[in-house]
Amino acid sequence: MFQGRSLLKEIDFTQAELAYLIDFAIHLKKLKQNNIPHAYLAGKNIALLFEKTSTRTRAAFTVAANDLGAHPEFLGPNDIQFGKKESTADTAKVLGSMFDGIQFRGFKQSDVEILAAESDVPVWNGLTDTWHPTQMLADFMTIKETLGDYVGKHLVYVGDGRNNMANSLLVTSAILGVHITILAPEALQPDTDIQHIAAEKAKATGSEIIITADTNAVKGADIIYTDVWVSMGEEDKYDERINMLMPYQVNSDLLAKTDNPNCIFMHCLPAFHDLDTKTMADIHHKTGLTALEVTEAVFQGKNSVVFQEAENRLHSIKAVMAATLGNLFIPTV
Ligand code: CP
Ligand code: NVA
Repeated sequence: MFQGRSLLKEIDFTQAELAYLIDFAIHLKKLKQNNIPHAYLAGKNIALLFEKTSTRTRAAFTVAANDLGAHPEFLGPNDIQFGKKESTADTAKVLGSMFDGIQFRGFKQSDVEILAAESDVPVWNGLTDTWHPTQMLADFMTIKETLGDYVGKHLVYVGDGRNNMANSLLVTSAILGVHITILAPEALQPDTDIQHIAAEKAKATGSEIIITADTNAVKGADIIYTDVWVSMGEEDKYDERINMLMPYQVNSDLLAKTDNPNCIFMHCLPAFHDLDTKTMADIHHKTGLTALEVTEAVFQGKNSVVFQEAENRLHSIKAVMAATLGNLFIPTV
């Protein structure tokens, strides 16, 4: 049963529970597409606590709460005492006494853990420096919609192998029985702690894990996934990362190396391919580069499912909120 539980990191849920939430999200997407009401959280209040910026996660939690009949309240970094004048524990007690559920996006994983420990309501991790669990539900939902299933598929994550997305994709793939390759230069390969968690989970599912710096490892991939080379909070690292990661850019040559014309391209977004963004414009001015982690041709190409993936944030976040907070009958898994 999901009721009353928090989603702080992927290992909080079993393979069957994650699979259930993904299927529930696919069901909720159909309800939305057919205008069938699903106000399972009528009368509930949801706190949306954001230390970092967001488009998809904020929009998804807001629209999901409204569709479920709940009221979302955005609490940004300049709106409340948290982060300046009040501890995480006191914030948790106060928000938990008024709201029915709390979404947190921020820097430290320990903050989202404290929010859950010190409040009596479900807490959902909308991204920390360590994990991005709600993104995982949308991603494996998108793979299931596009490729029919995720079990036994080969996902190659290319780029910064030490960030939240790499951690989450590695561990979630292992839990779900997806074969996962992390393709990154040695200095940016996953922490041994994260590798150990994934290796343990993979024992039960047969997920094959490869960590490598060799770009030939993309051969046979069903999914190529990348993320920004500089995550939120690391903005001083552009020069260093561009030098290290240029050989790992997802471009048409890398996609061709998969030898799989049906290999899909995924990215959690936002991406830095767009010359209209100020950061990319500055980088272009300095280096002449027109793209970092992915080229325009791949991003806009026929194999790209990035906007389907973005939309699925709505349906999958709705599934998590409804399952953990709703008064639904959900079969035991
Ligand atoms: N993918 C994702 O979490 O996007 P936002 O940062 O816009 O929420
Ligand atoms: N690794 C990125 C993910 C954004 C959704 C970041 O943390 O900025």
